[in-house]
Amino acid sequence: MGSAPNPFKDQSLSLIKRILPLTLYALLPIALLPTVLLCLHFYYPLSFPSSSSSPQTHLLPHSNSITVTYHSSLSSSSSSFPPPPSSPSPSSSTTKNSPSTEKENSYYYDDNENKCDYSNGEWVSDKRGPLYNATSCGTVKDSEKCTPNGRPDSGYLYWRWKPSQCNLPRFDPNTFLQLVTNKHIAFLGDSLARNQLESLLCMLSTTSTPNLVYTNGEDNKFRRWHFPSHNSTFSLYWSPFLVQGVERSNNGQYYNTMYLDHVNERWARDIGNWDIIVISFGHWFLIPSIYYEGGRVLGSLNVAEFNHTQIDFYDPLRKALRTTLNTIIERKIMKLLGGRNGNSNNMKGVDVIVKTFSPAHFEGDWDKAGTCSKTGPYREEEKKLEGMDAEIRRIEIEEVKKANNESGLLGFIRFDALDVTKLALLRPDGHPGPYMNPFPFAKGVPEHVQNDCVHWCLPGPIDTWNEIFLEMIKKWK
Ligand SMILES: *[C@@H]1O[C@H](CO)[C@@H](O)[C@H](O)[C@H]1NC(C)=O
Ligand SMILES: *[C@@H]1O[C@H](CO)[C@@H](O)[C@H](O)[C@H]1NC(C)=O
Ligand SMILES: *[C@@H]1O[C@H](CO)[C@@H](O)[C@H](O)[C@H]1NC(C)=O
Ligand SMILES: *[C@@H]1O[C@H](CO)[C@@H](O)[C@H](O)[C@H]1NC(C)=O
Repeated sequence: MGSAPNPFKDQSLSLIKRILPLTLYALLPIALLPTVLLCLHFYYPLSFPSSSSSPQTHLLPHSNSITVTYHSSLSSSSSSFPPPPSSPSPSSSTTKNSPSTEKENSYYYDDNENKCDYSNGEWVSDKRGPLYNATSCGTVKDSEKCTPNGRPDSGYLYWRWKPSQCNLPRFDPNTFLQLVTNKHIAFLGDSLARNQLESLLCMLSTTSTPNLVYTNGEDNKFRRWHFPSHNSTFSLYWSPFLVQGVERSNNGQYYNTMYLDHVNERWARDIGNWDIIVISFGHWFLIPSIYYEGGRVLGSLNVAEFNHTQIDFYDPLRKALRTTLNTIIERKIMKLLGGRNGNSNNMKGVDVIVKTFSPAHFEGDWDKAGTCSKTGPYREEEKKLEGMDAEIRRIEIEEVKKANNESGLLGFIRFDALDVTKLALLRPDGHPGPYMNPFPFAKGVPEHVQNDCVHWCLPGPIDTWNEIFLEMIKKWK
């Protein structure tokens, strides 16, 4: 596994091959040339990232011990539903040897400014409650309308996230819209990207009404809204692996097929239009998959019949994210190089935010009607960030830092992590549970009640992700 060839090396080599003729033939305006040479200079040496990071990969929980299962009936309820992990999480037994817990502090995001670390803290009670309700907001998916679906308790709405060293301001829709005036924000990835965007739209709608200007795909997988008041655009792109592939489906294959070295062009072809990208992924990597890289099979997870090497999903997940972030850098550089007619749009920068893994909260066996019936948050000491949740988060943050290192000197692409893993972990009460369907107990208690312990009620704790998102773009302004 460790000696596998590094695909990114080849990828960046071919990038250089494509870029060099362009520069050599001096197709660029003189004014742009210094920038481009700077790009090349820094992109080139930094594009061979793997040798230093591959030892990390060996520390990850190993394939043989993994027994990931998925909730077939749950994923059948909607093709865009991320299949939840089994419980307990597959790698929890390896946590003691994993570097994630003790080294956690070193993954904080800090750039030596006195910037707050929003990722650690606790939930404290807050009488104010949410900015909106699921009836007043038109963009909430039916399965996340917890109160209208009959959820009887409302205590879960009266908490706010208190970071250890600072305060997280309450979401201010006017400030947010001002900061994204004339901007295009793309949410891409799995159904948690949709969940987060719907939360954001609900909060923004309290001050300005968006128009749905585009919709495509079953389950509204691709949508676009426009706020005429600020000329702000929000797009949603379904792409649960980020890279190219074929999703498992009930009437097709029971496993995913992923091409780890090619991004999904369905979103990638639009990169040039975006000012901010918010990426959300992870849950779809937990189900059976065959992984391809460099045109051949790298291995598979829980797909027995082809005798492929069984590998765990951590390395594929890392590769998919790395391909995604490198492609964003690459496409932006190509656009810059193509800007010889002085089109200022080619100089447009982009801020890339990777929202870290959002843990699921199934209690009990996934195949024995796992539920999430808690009605309040965990206290910090009650629930440790460990096992699979911690590993996925760690990989995501490492890849963001690496991408930032590689692009930082370009000056117009920034990467940051929206680190929600811990605050989400502490909120077992924030999911629809049985109220993913309207009034599940109207006719008494059925034998089997489908629960959603992955997505978040709207309003609910996911609103906090957007409060942090706002603080990030304030800082970036
Ligand atoms: C939801 O919000 C609307 C508008 O603010 C309000 O009129 C309505 O009473 C609220 N509904 C509930 C159930 O709180
Ligand atoms: C509206 O925003 C888009 C970017 O999302 C920009 O290209 C366009 O020029 C803006 N329109 C106006 C009238 O400023
Ligand atoms: C997989 O391996 C088994 C045992 O070696 C063999 O019988 C079977 O034919 C192989 N299947 C494929 C698809 O190669
Ligand atoms: C980023 O660059 C710094 C300084 O060059 C280095 O110390 C650090 O290890 C790099 N991080 C990653 C994740 O590549």
